[in-house]
Amino acid sequence: MCGIMGYIGDENAADIIISGLEELEYRGYDSAGLAVGNGTEVKTAKVVGSPSGLRKETEGISGHIGIGHTRWATHGAPTVTNAHPHISGSGLFTVVHNGIIENYAELKAELEEQGFEFKSDTDTEVIAQMLEHLYNGDLKGTVSAALSRFKGSYALGIMCRDYPDCIVCAKLSSPLFAGVSRGCVYLASDVSAIAGKGDRIFRVNDGEIGILKKDGLKIFDLDGCRIRKSEIKIKAFDRNSDKGGYKHYMLKEITEQPAAVRRTLSEFINESGRIKFKGLHLTKQEIQDLDQIIFVACGSAYHVGTVGAYACEKLCKKHARAVIASEFRYMHPYLDEKTLVVIISQSGETADTLAAMRIAEKKGAKIIGIVNVENSTIAQECKNVIMTRAGKEVAVATTKAYSAQLAVVYALAIRLAEISGTLSRRETAEYVAELKAVPDKIEILLSDIEKYKSFADIADSSGYICFIGRGFDYCAAMEASLKLKEISYIPCEAYAAGELKHGTISLIDRNSLTVALCCQEELKQKTESNVNEVRARNGKTITVSSSDGDIVIPKTLDIFTPSLEVIPLQLLAYYTALKRGCPIDKPRNLAKSVTVE
Ligand code: G6P
Repeated sequence: MCGIMGYIGDENAADIIISGLEELEYRGYDSAGLAVGNGTEVKTAKVVGSPSGLRKETEGISGHIGIGHTRWATHGAPTVTNAHPHISGSGLFTVVHNGIIENYAELKAELEEQGFEFKSDTDTEVIAQMLEHLYNGDLKGTVSAALSRFKGSYALGIMCRDYPDCIVCAKLSSPLFAGVSRGCVYLASDVSAIAGKGDRIFRVNDGEIGILKKDGLKIFDLDGCRIRKSEIKIKAFDRNSDKGGYKHYMLKEITEQPAAVRRTLSEFINESGRIKFKGLHLTKQEIQDLDQIIFVACGSAYHVGTVGAYACEKLCKKHARAVIASEFRYMHPYLDEKTLVVIISQSGETADTLAAMRIAEKKGAKIIGIVNVENSTIAQECKNVIMTRAGKEVAVATTKAYSAQLAVVYALAIRLAEISGTLSRRETAEYVAELKAVPDKIEILLSDIEKYKSFADIADSSGYICFIGRGFDYCAAMEASLKLKEISYIPCEAYAAGELKHGTISLIDRNSLTVALCCQEELKQKTESNVNEVRARNGKTITVSSSDGDIVIPKTLDIFTPSLEVIPLQLLAYYTALKRGCPIDKPRNLAKSVTVE
């Protein structure tokens, strides 16, 4: 959600910034812009739509220093005027910003009283004007004073006319990284935009101000004292982001799931089948003393949390539930030192999930973070981190990260149950052996992906699609429904099969499709009865089961079924969206990394 790219060096800044912004496109955007300085003046270009549109707009603009931005509209429509960079009244400051300044209205009124005039509807323009208002010739001091006025979240790239050779950066809650090579420096809101460019990459932290110059980076605290930083390391598979011959990243990432799950499992299951999480520092006693386990996350990661909760309730015999992070943070949750909060996030930057983690920490709960991006804020702040090794995921609709997260929550439930004594050694070994077989079974499902195209024809001709299931099938139904709705734009919902008669059945007619997940052996017949109720009302149906459904998945233990049943349903979503000509990798209005509330 929004992206920042900055550059100082010998190359043409506009070219480097535009290609960096293109790398950040996956985060979601609706407009883009940049500012380039040539030592005497700063020129800007802005477009509605993709950053590639900036190429034409910057034809006559050259310079060796600049900042750029992809915007995902929050305050004000996606227009050229609202696109970043924003410039202060006299042109002294030029600013790009990710995040939201929550007290912008109050600050805007104050600045208007001082005679500042605003051109855009954005909260960001307040930052540029505030900098100009407070400017006293000391750039670092002015930025620090301005930051103390802002409430909310921000990652900032700032240029000042009086300092034509430098970019100032600062952040609060939104991620920001700097890359340093000989004779050039980079700034970006995501490591991926600078991973192959800067020789040494540094994370900027909350409460720090960075000064970037051609010859390097200096970081200070808000009192102006210098801070020494260590560089961060980036794994090779996190850099890989080409489509590898596939039409879409989403299809490529679907096919990468066996590898993503295998790589993730190999992080914590050793040769002899024992589970050991390196990043987990809870004692045996602390685990045995737990009396509730809460999974907290957003979107697909929340759906993984529902699987985790069902698995922990079943295997660990402890109270377990999943809560959406944006609800958790304001519901005054009852937590104590006997509560385990499991935070799940692909990006490690989701604003609500991060805030929920901080609340849980403050209330003294034990916390485990399951994260895919190594240098993300959640991965850095959480004391107990388990990494998913899905590799870089580009498509906005998650597939391989979801599967890798599932692998972790299964293993976590098994391990917690083993330690709590609710699974015997033999039962634990059985679960682990079956878990290790999951990637092979996903591979079987992916061996003939084209066969799911015929189901996409049925979905495409439906005005409403309902996914039903019970138990773990219900958890998978939620994910399948989200996948189809987000990329095909067909209204979809997921229902616990037993709830069908409490409302949704009124929507069933010949234009509706019900996809029934019947992979839990003990619940299969019950869900099949619901399928019959749908058929009796002329609704179309597709059934998924491990024996005789329209779609058949390999047999596995009940807790692992979501990993298998979701695969054909990801492909159903993909082929339906393909048929409808939808922009599969970047669905309208959606962002991969949701860094605002
Ligand atoms: C966005 C993404 C989803 C993701 C959710 C949570 O909505 O499009 O794929 O599940 O955010 O993101 P996180 O990075 O915290 O897993």
